[in-house]
Amino acid sequence: MTDAATVLARCAALGEISEEPGLLVRRFATPALREASDLVGEWMRQAGLDVYEDAVGNLIGRREAATGPGAPAFVLGSHLDTVRDAGRYDGPLGVVAGVAVAERFAGRVLPFALEVVAFADEEGTRFGTTFLGSSAFAGRWDPAWDALTDEAGVTLADALRAYGGDVAEVPGAARARESLLGYSELHIEQGPVLEARDAPVGVVTAITGQSHAEVRFTGIAGHAGTVPMDARHDAAAAAAEWLLVVESLARAREGLVATVGRLELHPGARNVIPAEARLWLDVRHGDDRARHAAIAALREAAVQVGAPRGVAPDWDDRGDIAAVPADPALAARLTACVEAVGAPVERLASGAGHDAAVVAGLAPAAMLFVRCRGGVSHHPAEAVAVEDVAVAIEKLKEY
Ligand code: HGY
Ligand code: MN
Ligand code: MN
Repeated sequence: MTDAATVLARCAALGEISEEPGLLVRRFATPALREASDLVGEWMRQAGLDVYEDAVGNLIGRREAATGPGAPAFVLGSHLDTVRDAGRYDGPLGVVAGVAVAERFAGRVLPFALEVVAFADEEGTRFGTTFLGSSAFAGRWDPAWDALTDEAGVTLADALRAYGGDVAEVPGAARARESLLGYSELHIEQGPVLEARDAPVGVVTAITGQSHAEVRFTGIAGHAGTVPMDARHDAAAAAAEWLLVVESLARAREGLVATVGRLELHPGARNVIPAEARLWLDVRHGDDRARHAAIAALREAAVQVGAPRGVAPDWDDRGDIAAVPADPALAARLTACVEAVGAPVERLASGAGHDAAVVAGLAPAAMLFVRCRGGVSHHPAEAVAVEDVAVAIEKLKEY
């Protein structure tokens, strides 16, 4: 039986499968994701699941109900892609633990089908648009995404074809509402709350909403030594001023967090006034209206900081994911399981986004968080305790 130590060993094995030596990065539709997905597929088969991959590259292991094929399924899942310089557990823990839970049902008569889903993209690291995997699964694929390009100029459509998928078939990967009973995702907390409360696991109450955008300031390149300061159209200066507006706005508004996680200057030389600055923005709030108001203010601020410099902003929305509450009935079941094993019942909201937020549009969804060391995540130092994972696996099984 795959115990918690084996789950962690499998996460460690997946942590070695990276696009780059020396750091973990495994983006959508890359050879590294293929290798990881094939390995997880093998573990799924060993757990007695039938394995297939949908058109967007989501890996699905399924066990049919005792009543026969095609019964509605309860789904356990998370994602296999990572951010850049990632930890080992954000995503893979939920997938690998899901396989361990499915294995615990082998030999038992199930009145429903059971699936473990490894979503192919949650982080959006390659194409800038997140939740590609769960969006296809939930029937929320936007055909405009087919033409997105990565840093090398490869379109999503071409990348997916090379991976073995097909954007033309993605609409067919959408699951019918009646084919699903519910979805549960096990995930590291990625924050400090459970550690502070001395609790191994916590039941998620809600997942915060997110907006993503790529903001491009376009000015005019020029010689750093000869163009007078009052004749410049410096895209970097506009971007810098705007970035500080992002920070001050988020500090001033209760519950708002806003991040520019990436900034690029072009052409990118010490002695050339930047003609273009590109910034990738991430804005979150538990209340969607507050988030949308912040986005409107930041759009206006981009115009304001650009105007005196003759620098025009261009705003490309890259995602708007609504805040979602956990399904009350499923969350109550999880809570009862936590109580039943005598662990403290902790409830907490998630500031991170999760596939569960997308799947919630299709089926009742709930999440269980596992305490993580120091609240550290999106960082190679991400860590969980084997005892906490053991508690989580046992609970998911009873669910
Ligand atoms: O960004 C997030 O919240 C998630 O980790 N993708
Ligand atoms: Mn993440
Ligand atoms: Mn994650």
